[in-house]
Amino acid sequence: MTSARDVDVETRPGALIRGEFPIFETATYLNSCSQGALSHRVRDAVEEWLSGWDANGAEWDFWVERNETFRSAISRLLHAQAEDVAVTTSVSQGVSALVSALPLDERNRIVISEYEFPTVGQIAHAQELRGAEVVHVLPGSDGEIPAERFAEAIDQRTALVCCTTLSYRSGHRHDVGAIAEAAHAAGALVLADSYQACGAVELDVRSLGADVVTGGTVKYLLGTAGLGFMWLRPEVRQALVPTQTGWFADEDIFAMSIADYSPHRSARRFDSGTPPVPALYAGVAGLSLVQEVGVQAIEAHVRGLVDRLLDGLESLGATVPTPGDPSRRGPLVCVRSNDVTALVRALAAERMIVSSREDKVRVSLHLYNVDEDVDRLLEALARHRALLT
Ligand SMILES: Cc1ncc(COP(=O)(O)O)c(C=O)c1O
Repeated sequence: MTSARDVDVETRPGALIRGEFPIFETATYLNSCSQGALSHRVRDAVEEWLSGWDANGAEWDFWVERNETFRSAISRLLHAQAEDVAVTTSVSQGVSALVSALPLDERNRIVISEYEFPTVGQIAHAQELRGAEVVHVLPGSDGEIPAERFAEAIDQRTALVCCTTLSYRSGHRHDVGAIAEAAHAAGALVLADSYQACGAVELDVRSLGADVVTGGTVKYLLGTAGLGFMWLRPEVRQALVPTQTGWFADEDIFAMSIADYSPHRSARRFDSGTPPVPALYAGVAGLSLVQEVGVQAIEAHVRGLVDRLLDGLESLGATVPTPGDPSRRGPLVCVRSNDVTALVRALAAERMIVSSREDKVRVSLHLYNVDEDVDRLLEALARHRALLT
């Protein structure tokens, strides 16, 4: 894999791509963990959708084609086959369909990490109404949740293990491969919610270890809300029949039958109703930017920025829960504050856009960020040092 040091400064994405994103004319944008910045290309794509609607009314065939274009683009991103990718309207929709396919009989346990996004935890607990038992795996005092902790929680009653690839709360990265080994040894499936990784971290489903990988386009994939994906290992999706479904998941959408349920052979059985058309235009355009730069180049670029940020934070004496080890983190760095609301507000007043969770400021780096963004933030944090813990 390329390291940050191997990427020539002249060819690093940052400055080369920044002109695509107008927000940098007026702000230092460091909040891709919440939402990626809007590009000219995505704006143009959404306008193309509106113009087509004006000119032609319902462009049904083109919409369906966009859905398949997105499915193919995601399959390239994940090194997967398109037939193993479902197009979803959110992680929530995909994961709900996934658990609806689990019988939850003698295997009724769902093991979840403490770093899951609320939607995964809530969907798991909703299955208690169907007889499920939810087991939480907690981090140690260093904030890490090593695979051994998962292994202790997994047994022959475990149906599903949820280990988010990268924590939205702290920036920790799970060792999905080692967790999957423990889960598979007990016959359980593994779901890796990779929303905080996809687009900024190389994800290869052939080696990741998970059986199901999901994410969406709002963040590092540079699209907008209402669109996600779910990859399923072929033998897993063949075996799972969702009871939460929709007509776009049917074997033949145009059969228009109300007489039976015949889910599609492919991962499309986890699709739902009418595709999210505006989000598809934005999603395909955003993803094209990511793929033109290349996720490996983005990951290496981001690693360089994160190293720079972590060095600076150390000099400031800031408390950083995100791991120092590059293999245990990604594009998100969290910094503790004694008044996180005040700190986010103070930075916003200086046109530096970050977000927060609990007592931590979240700073996320992506392809359009440059060293100067990091330096500007560090200078501001030095001025607001009293708000750091
Ligand atoms: C890790 C993670 N999973 C899921 C989501 C969102 O899920 P959904 O697409 O259901 O809104 C987010 C953020 O919004 C997230 O950070």
